[in-house]
Amino acid sequence: MAVITFANAKGGAGKTTAALILSTELARQGHRVVVLDADPQRWITSWAEASGHIANLTVISHITPGSLECHIREAKDEADYIVIDLAGAKDQIVALALAISDQVLIPVQGCAMDAKGAAQILELIRQIQDRSGLRINHSVVLTRVNSLVTTRALQTIKAMLAERGVSVLDTPIVERAAYREIFDFGGTLQTMDPNRVSNLDKARENAAALAKEVQALMPVKTRRSWAARMPSWASRNAA
Ligand SMILES: Nc1ncnc2c1ncn2[C@@H]1O[C@H](COP(=O)(O)OP(=O)(O)OP(=O)(O)O)[C@@H](O)[C@H]1O
Ligand SMILES: [Mg+2]
Repeated sequence: MAVITFANAKGGAGKTTAALILSTELARQGHRVVVLDADPQRWITSWAEASGHIANLTVISHITPGSLECHIREAKDEADYIVIDLAGAKDQIVALALAISDQVLIPVQGCAMDAKGAAQILELIRQIQDRSGLRINHSVVLTRVNSLVTTRALQTIKAMLAERGVSVLDTPIVERAAYREIFDFGGTLQTMDPNRVSNLDKARENAAALAKEVQALMPVKTRRSWAARMPSWASRNAA
């Protein structure tokens, strides 16, 4: 079981979209996925309600700092992946989720490069690491990238962030109509009609490439149990 968290303190960075694309692709491949919807706007919960049963995927909402640990404890035996979608904030639940994650993904909009919210998450990760002595694996994922943006331009952004010690996924999430429409109509990229949604095949390929790269980041060996990673200040707060 691996915990993957999407975080960016800035609202609208693309967390929920990226979380849903990854979760549905992992579930499509046959992995058991539990999404913990900690976004107060509950988009993934609404999507799940509109979608009906999706094989291998369960969405749990109303996540609080006090309930997060309990939800993970309950999900850990039945899930291959737990995906956490956070609010665009830097609060207690964000700090808790970061601390227990095997991988934190920080969506940053490729075009705007407004990285202020990402910088806040990177700083919070650094603080938690310093305080706990744990390493929190994290990467930026460029999102809403224009399909015309060249690989070379993306390499430049990647190199710029690498100079600052930030790793960036090779796979950007492209701006696609399908990624907006999935929330409007429910279902998955596989159940959408290719005659109605433009470039659906490209959206599917992008989702598959993202999932492949994220899976490759996961530790091969079983990690130290997530409970051991739970910071002491978390259990105090949960009590
Ligand atoms: N790859 C993409 N292609 C097309 N539209 C996108 C993409 N990523 C995000 N969007 C759109 O951008 C807007 C913000 O995205 P999203 O809701 O995923 O961000 P968020 O970080 O979860 O926001 P919040 O902080 O409010 O929870 C939405 O309208 C969404 O449809
Ligand atoms: Mg969101």
